[in-house]
Amino acid sequence: MTQAVVSANAPALAISDLRKVYDNGVQALKGVSLEVAPGDFFALLGPNGAGKSTLIGIVSSLVNKSAGEVEVFGVNLSRHRDDALRLIGLVPQEINFNMFEKPLDILVNYAGFYGVPRAEALVRAEEELKRAQLWDKAQMMSRTLSGGMKRRLMIARAMMTRPRLLILDEPTAGVDIEIRRGMWKTLKDINAAGTTIILTTHYLEEAESLCRNLAIIDHGIIVEQGPMRSLLAKLDVEGFLFDIDGDLPAQLPGIEGAVLLAQDSHTLDLDMPRAMDLNRVFDALNQAGIRVRSMRTKSNRLEELFVRMTGNSDASKEQAA
Ligand SMILES: Nc1ncnc2c1ncn2[C@@H]1O[C@H](COP(=O)(O)OP(=O)(O)OP(=O)(O)O)[C@@H](O)[C@H]1O
Ligand SMILES: [Mg+2]
Repeated sequence: MTQAVVSANAPALAISDLRKVYDNGVQALKGVSLEVAPGDFFALLGPNGAGKSTLIGIVSSLVNKSAGEVEVFGVNLSRHRDDALRLIGLVPQEINFNMFEKPLDILVNYAGFYGVPRAEALVRAEEELKRAQLWDKAQMMSRTLSGGMKRRLMIARAMMTRPRLLILDEPTAGVDIEIRRGMWKTLKDINAAGTTIILTTHYLEEAESLCRNLAIIDHGIIVEQGPMRSLLAKLDVEGFLFDIDGDLPAQLPGIEGAVLLAQDSHTLDLDMPRAMDLNRVFDALNQAGIRVRSMRTKSNRLEELFVRMTGNSDASKEQAA
């Protein structure tokens, strides 16, 4: 067996033409390629069923790929599975530690499983529990921890093997904003100390506040990839829905710089640059004899982005329905 060489210059994660067809015929990944630089904080964004967990499952060797290649710091996952996995820490979406164990034991036993000597594991556990603000809970039954503490314990556990790449699958799903912020801080600290982080999330806000680069995946395809900053520039459009009194005229007024569409016989859908003056819109509607009863902003920005990036996504079907 040849020895895998961890390369200092290689991407933290390099995926090429990754495909996954599940036994039931579902094509969860249809040729995904992406690269994550060492030290990066990278978000994998996508709606339900996009293929995020499948991708993470393959990288962490819990799911068998159908085709494609995965390298972790230059170590090929197929050829040097154990060496590649040693570089990765995984925080799965579901809480999966034993609730009847104490945090300290959970951490030390986990490290032991990966061959970390007990004395060293104890030192690391203290460090990680302190970082997770759980040191005072080290000897309590894990069952008694709050939801947010349990999530932090999951991260602390993944850090016990000193992974160079930390992968989190929706680490903040279902936790309130205060706990989420606390976890963001922890993750920023971990990243600042040199660990490359990849996380999946539904929340654009989360990606926005944490990540430098991101990929958007939809129906098993990467539809957008690049720096967070350039993506946000594309989001410089605001969307509104107007509820209209009475019926709409056959011909809608044109508004320069904006896109106005009839969603149904008494709802208008408007996309306009953020800097544009809404008064211009109301003037045009007034002149066309259209009376607006109420208005609301269109769903969340990420959802809007999906619609624009994918064109035929579920979200756009729902909007058209
Ligand atoms: N074990 C499996 N067997 C068959 N199909 C599966 C399996 N796991 C996932 N799928 C399907 O593969 C597709 C991608 O699922 P995946 O869990 O990777 O999406 P996801 O992006 O993680 O979604 P979510 O945001 O809901 O967690 C979906 O259509 C899903 O139904
Ligand atoms: Mg998932």
